[in-house]
Amino acid sequence: MSASAHRGEIFTLTDDPAKGAEATVYHADGVMVIEDGLITACGAWDILGPTLSPDIPVTHHKNGVMVPGFVDAHVHFPQLSMIASPGKQLMDWLKSYTFPAEEAFADPEYCKAAAPVFLDALLAHGTTSALVFASVHEQSVEALFEAAHARNMRLVAGKVLMDRDAPDALLEPAEEGYRKSKALIERWHGKGRLGYAVTPRFAPTCSKESLQSAGRLLAEYPDILLQTHLSENHAEIARVAELFPDADDYLDVYEQSGMVGDRSVFAHCVHLEEGALSRLAKARSSIAFCPSSNLFLGSGLMDYEAARKAGIEIGLGSDVGAGTSLSLLATMSEAYKVAHIKGTVIAAEQAFYHATLGGARALHMADRVGSLKPGMEADFLVLDYAATPVIAGRMAVARDVMERLFVLMMLGDDRAVRHVYLAGKPVAGHAFAATQQAAP
Ligand code: GUN
Ligand code: FE
Repeated sequence: MSASAHRGEIFTLTDDPAKGAEATVYHADGVMVIEDGLITACGAWDILGPTLSPDIPVTHHKNGVMVPGFVDAHVHFPQLSMIASPGKQLMDWLKSYTFPAEEAFADPEYCKAAAPVFLDALLAHGTTSALVFASVHEQSVEALFEAAHARNMRLVAGKVLMDRDAPDALLEPAEEGYRKSKALIERWHGKGRLGYAVTPRFAPTCSKESLQSAGRLLAEYPDILLQTHLSENHAEIARVAELFPDADDYLDVYEQSGMVGDRSVFAHCVHLEEGALSRLAKARSSIAFCPSSNLFLGSGLMDYEAARKAGIEIGLGSDVGAGTSLSLLATMSEAYKVAHIKGTVIAAEQAFYHATLGGARALHMADRVGSLKPGMEADFLVLDYAATPVIAGRMAVARDVMERLFVLMMLGDDRAVRHVYLAGKPVAGHAFAATQQAAP
C-alpha cells in the first residue's frame, strides 16, 4: 500500500446532502491523506496531523492552495494545432481552418503523435479530466484513449459523427458512424478511467438519420454520455431552421432524435430559443459554458444567470481551438467578464465550482473526482500564489482565500499550476517539470 500526505491550504467544494447543495470546505492549514490513489482523509492539520503514522511522507505546499483538478467540459483534440485562427465567425471558421486541421487525423501516426501533446498540454494547464471531441476518424479516438489510459486520466471522449456539409474526407454514412461508435464503446467505455461520449458534431453537419443513430446509442448504453453543440451562432441557427423545417426550434431537432437527456452535454447555448432552457432543465441535461470561444468567434454572450437559475448543471469548456486557452483559470476569467457585462457577478467560489465539481457533475463523474474528500480519486492541483510577479504582488495585499482565488482566476494560467497529481501521483505542473529537467 502506498500512502502519502499533502499539507497546506486546501479549498474544495463538496456535496452536502444535508443542505441538498454543495458546501465550501476550506483549511488554512490542512492536510490530505492519500492511499492507493484515493483520498482517505482531508482536514485541519492540527487535528489530523498528529494522528498520521510517522511512516507517511508529508509534502508541505507553501504559498499556494490545493484544489481539485480542473474538469474541461468541452474541448476538441484535433484543434490544438489551429488555435488562434483569426478573422471568421463559426461557419466560415469551420470551413477555413477547422475541417482542414481535422483532415490530418486520417493518418493514425499523426493521431499517435498528437494525442500525448494534447493530453500533456491539458495536464500542464491543470486539467485532469475532460469531455473531448476527437475527429471523425476512429483512429483519433484510439490514440487519445491509449494516451489517456497510459497517463491514468479520467477522460470521456468520442468520435465525431458527420454525414453532410463538410469536406468529403470527413463524412461517412450515418450507419457507418453508428457502427464505428459502437465498436469504440465496446472497446473503451469503462476501461480504467475512460468513458465514451456519442459525438454528433451539430445539426448542420448531421442528417436526421445520423442524429437518430446518436440517440439510439445513448439509449442502448445506460452510462455513456452524449456531447454536441447547440445554439452557438446566428448563422448556424438559421441553417438549422432551413435544414429542419419541421422542428419547432434547434433544441427540438435534438429532442426528436432522442439526444436530450440527463447524460447529454450541450456546448454553448448562447442563443437558445424561448422555452429551450426550461426544456433542458427538465431533461436534466448539462451545459458546457465556453466564454473564451464565444468571445473569440464573436458568437455572443451566454446568459449564465438564466441557466443557473433554471437549475441546469454548468461545466466550463475551453472549447479549444475556438477558445484561446486550455487554461480553465483563463476560462473562469472570461466567464466572469461575460456574466458581468450581463449584470451578474460570478464569485470565485462559484467559478471554481464550475471548473471542478460542476464539471464533474455534468460529466457524471462527481462520485470519483471534482472534490477533495475521503473516497474520491486524488486528482488535485497546487496553485501557486507567486506564479508571476504581478500575482505575487497582488497576493501580498489579498485579505482572504476568496480574494486569492479571485486573483488566480482573473490573472492565472498554466504558470499558476505548480503541481498536478493524478490518483496521488505527480504528473505535471511547473515544479514537476523542473524536477524532470533536473533528473539525470
Ligand atoms: N460547432 C460545430 N463544430 C464546432 C467546433 O468545432 N467548434 C465550435 N466552437 N463550434 C462548433
Ligand atoms: Fe466546440
